[in-house]
Amino acid sequence: MREALIRPQAISQNVQAIRQATSAAKTLVVVKAGGYGHGAVTAARAALEGGADWLGTADVDEALELREAGITAPVLSWLFGPSDDLSVALENGIDVGVSSLGQLAQVVSQASPGTPASPGTAARVHLKIDTGLGRSGATPDQWAALCEAAATAQRGGKVRVVGVFSHLSGASAEADAIQGAAFALACDQARASGLDPELCHISASNATSNSPELASDMVRIGIAAYGVPVAGRFAGLGLRPAMRFSGQVVLTKRVSSGHGVGYGHTYQTTSETTLALVPLGYADGVPRHASSAGPVVIAGRRFSVSGRVSMDQFSVDVGDHGVKEGDWCVLWGDPGEGHPSVEEWAEAAGTIGYEMITRVGPRVPRVIER
Ligand SMILES: Cc1ncc(COP(=O)(O)O)c(C=O)c1O
Repeated sequence: MREALIRPQAISQNVQAIRQATSAAKTLVVVKAGGYGHGAVTAARAALEGGADWLGTADVDEALELREAGITAPVLSWLFGPSDDLSVALENGIDVGVSSLGQLAQVVSQASPGTPASPGTAARVHLKIDTGLGRSGATPDQWAALCEAAATAQRGGKVRVVGVFSHLSGASAEADAIQGAAFALACDQARASGLDPELCHISASNATSNSPELASDMVRIGIAAYGVPVAGRFAGLGLRPAMRFSGQVVLTKRVSSGHGVGYGHTYQTTSETTLALVPLGYADGVPRHASSAGPVVIAGRRFSVSGRVSMDQFSVDVGDHGVKEGDWCVLWGDPGEGHPSVEEWAEAAGTIGYEMITRVGPRVPRVIER
């Protein structure tokens, strides 16, 4: 009665189109947060099918899930804390993003020690510089010391600095250009410290679409791979949404005019009508903020949520349009197939497409389209 239809082919095609549209030699596809709600392993396999060279996750456990599924492609993982044990990830060849001297020390101490006969494998790291986003990454003031320490650890065989990276704020094209210039300087500084990173990377979907000159050696693509629209050049690539989120009408009933609908009676019928009950609520990722606003399509006709979204369900006033129990109610999918877009839902809920797709709950089965 609930379903998120996942379209791996759309992910593959989107990745293929994006690869062709960027000058970067390598494309990393981000599959954190369960592949942006699509299923990490499904998304990863589809991305690799589409030509992705690398995969990216936030947590190392997310990276290990890929390895456990037999995926051997390079994986970069960029978020860990002092209490995380990185040893299994490092043993499994997961690259980690390092933002500070403390994190570098943690990686060095948790890298496989090896034996005199068989030296341990160097931990693969990408040093991260905060060029202005104000999240992770060493500040420009800390950068030289981090590069020096990494070069020393590399000479000692403990680490291999594979990359240098940063993340953009997207505040404006100008702000991204300033970060891009700071990043170029940081890459030069890393080389001057004796490091030879193969990959400098800063652009995610937005910059890859709008500021192609920042592509550098690798782009890290998340949202666009899943077909959520990104303004700029990507608008012309025909990217296809990879998720269709729907629920089956479980109950219909005729009610009279003036009938209150849902908690707080924020919606009242204005004539005799049919109410259709859809078994999806905020526990499933339908935002309560989209109450009486979120668009849906049932039996080929557009309606909107009527009244409050509750934990497990919402109602739709379907008038006299012959909606039946068992009909599928599509919340978002491919507008090319007549379904509302994720963006419409994001607007109705005052949020962004990222939040919509990543919050589809565990109760909703992901059904893979073959
Ligand atoms: C470090 C990093 N790189 C790349 C991405 C992908 O961003 P987007 O989904 O906007 O392409 C993310 C996602 O937030 C990220 O955290």
